[in-house]
Amino acid sequence: MSLPAPLETLLTQTKAQLSLDFSDYLSNYEPAEIELAKAIEYALLNGGKRMRPLLVNIVGQMLKIPQSDLNQVALAIECIHAYSLVHDDLPAMDDDDLRRGKPTCHIQFNEATAILAGDALQCMAFEVIANAPLSQFADSQRIELIRHLTKAAGAAGMVGGQSIDLAATNMQIPIEALRNLHSLKTGALLSACVQLPCILCKDISPHNVQLLLKYAKHIGLAFQIQDDILDVTSDTTTLGKPQGSDQDANKSTFVSLLGLEGAQLALHEQHELALQALATLPYNTQNLIQFSEYLVARKY
Ligand code: IPE
Ligand code: IPE
Ligand code: MG
Ligand code: MG
Ligand code: MG
Repeated sequence: MSLPAPLETLLTQTKAQLSLDFSDYLSNYEPAEIELAKAIEYALLNGGKRMRPLLVNIVGQMLKIPQSDLNQVALAIECIHAYSLVHDDLPAMDDDDLRRGKPTCHIQFNEATAILAGDALQCMAFEVIANAPLSQFADSQRIELIRHLTKAAGAAGMVGGQSIDLAATNMQIPIEALRNLHSLKTGALLSACVQLPCILCKDISPHNVQLLLKYAKHIGLAFQIQDDILDVTSDTTTLGKPQGSDQDANKSTFVSLLGLEGAQLALHEQHELALQALATLPYNTQNLIQFSEYLVARKY
């Protein structure tokens, strides 16, 4: 399934802007070790669907946030995402050798360089929010942005989820525990893509923020359920990462717990809940609806 034309256009703009901003950023960034700089660039610029920056732009444009502020938020979140993939692929974690159709960072460089590139990318996210030129209101919200992004990325969010993921390997866990695991490891950062633009909006009501976060929570879960499904149903060339990685590592996934059909039902259920959350919002939510349809139908 492809994106509807207006969203496809927004995605093309999002990707072009990110490449520009990353290149710009990297040109001012002089790590002492040249190998590290190459590894950072490799992790940021070797493709990726850029779904998180797209979500930042969809929500932010819906809330009429200045585009230049959204660009910085999108950049910071994609830095966190890129770092999380570099570390996720390491031998001590998922031990995968292919990412976005290319050797993973630790295969292309070496393990120590991949660890350091991830560390640097994580810092870069917060450097961007601390230093980027922002409009007057966004400037006053820098600490709030950092507060929410650190929570989403850290032990109470993505990193906590990754830790539970590793602990839940080689065992059966209850479905509630798996839902929590997925909500943290993948959902938390997707929720930040909604929350950060809300922080930059002066006049959104707390009730409407809650509805948008509910949408984010359900698409976050749906995103990871589809990732689990694709691990079983897709192929390595289409995925650009090793098909069957979860099965080989005996991971707890929606498919391993519920079977393929059960996982597909759960995906549908989360998608429905996401759509319900949008129903009463006083904004044009068409792009959010179409974004969720794309996520649950995506093939890689
Ligand atoms: C992969 O994320 C990791 C998960 C959280 C499932 P994406 O599927 O967004 O990866 P890229 O950025 O497009 O490669
Ligand atoms: C990764 O989940 C989540 C994070 C990187 C935080 P997965 O391990 O399922 O992601 P893939 O399948 O390797 O992309
Ligand atoms: Mg993993
Ligand atoms: Mg993985
Ligand atoms: Mg996966």
